[in-house]
Amino acid sequence: MNTPLRLGIAGLGTVGVGVIRIVRAQAALLAARTGREIVISAVSARNRDKDRGVNLGRYAWEDDPVALARRDDVDVVVELMGGSDGPAKATTEAALDTGKDVVTANKAMLAMHGQALAERAEAAGRMIRFEAAVAGGIPVVKTLSEGLAGNAVSRVMGVMNGTCNYILTRMEAEGLGYNALFEEAARLGYLEADPRLDVGGIDAGHKLALLAAVAFGTQVHFDAVELEGIDRVALEDIRHAADMGYRIKLLGVAQMTARGLEQRTAPCLVPAASALGQLEGGTNMVVLEGDAVGQIVIRGAGAGEGPTASAVMGDICDIARGTRGTVFGQPATTLAQAKPARSALPAPYYLRMLLADRPGALAKIATILGEAGISINRMRQYRHDDDTAPVLIVTHRTTPAALETALAAIAPLDVLASEPVALRIEDV
Ligand code: HSE
Repeated sequence: MNTPLRLGIAGLGTVGVGVIRIVRAQAALLAARTGREIVISAVSARNRDKDRGVNLGRYAWEDDPVALARRDDVDVVVELMGGSDGPAKATTEAALDTGKDVVTANKAMLAMHGQALAERAEAAGRMIRFEAAVAGGIPVVKTLSEGLAGNAVSRVMGVMNGTCNYILTRMEAEGLGYNALFEEAARLGYLEADPRLDVGGIDAGHKLALLAAVAFGTQVHFDAVELEGIDRVALEDIRHAADMGYRIKLLGVAQMTARGLEQRTAPCLVPAASALGQLEGGTNMVVLEGDAVGQIVIRGAGAGEGPTASAVMGDICDIARGTRGTVFGQPATTLAQAKPARSALPAPYYLRMLLADRPGALAKIATILGEAGISINRMRQYRHDDDTAPVLIVTHRTTPAALETALAAIAPLDVLASEPVALRIEDV
């Protein structure tokens, strides 16, 4: 048997504890599969006295994660603290600079500093593995970088924030509004420390930017992701979408086009009968499209102790086996700087607007849509509230630019009683 692989775990939240449990419970299986024992040398967290339900007595303790990263009895630093900068980044850099590989679940750090960290790791002959950073237990990074290495990937998309999917599916199932479900998600501990990361689409954007880098051989460019969250999705939109055979999902979509790399997260309508449409609760789903393989759909738990620790362990096992590789599927210095492109691919759109219930109101809207070259597919005026009437329009395929032009012309109209809602109907 080879020498043991020695871990230093920085961060003892849900995932850190999950990793400790697997290392202990599956010691024999891990050794059989990797040909060496996997052991924990040292751990680090903010609070030493907290009861985490696992005995930490047999591991060295470090208050400072950077000191943990520099220890001589650690081969791999497992960074599970989170946060794009601060201790997580300092610990990762210290690990690389002292000759260790890094396994991390930190999507924010890699979305912001992935290129610099990958170059630093590869210059030092080290690796950063980050399967757990994207879609929890779903092995999507491995699937893209290894299983699909022979494909030109055209599109990567999916539901990669379980909290948003939980809120949206509960809104539909329970008939409750966004605010009530946001409170419920907070009570259940589903929200990130800063909930805007979840409901603002930022967390899904971080994950999408990482997948886009692997899929397209481009440098991670999170700032180019067009971000939209779920906070403006109303219960009535979910109901109308359901009436028409759709569900609303927070979709992340990255695709390479002749104009450049499109990356966007936004609530979209998808067919209720599609795999994405049927995704319930906190589950994640990623759809990958390659020229040779066609479409692949992977589904699984996007968060939680077991699933996220499972992804961390997959990376640790690769390192234990001696599998070496690059951070983003090809040497970091060869990753292209993709030109960011605003979404331009045509799609049908769902529009909901509250109009003054008076002669000619709807005609004004229809005229503006027509002038923007947008053709109406379906339309319904479904209820009257005193002197206003909610109107629902589904367009034929049109470009985001045409829609923007129309919405800008509609915005100042005196017949408009509230801001229109426009949601893309995604072809999945
Ligand atoms: N906040 C994330 C989610 C956790 O809801 O999916 C996993 O990254």
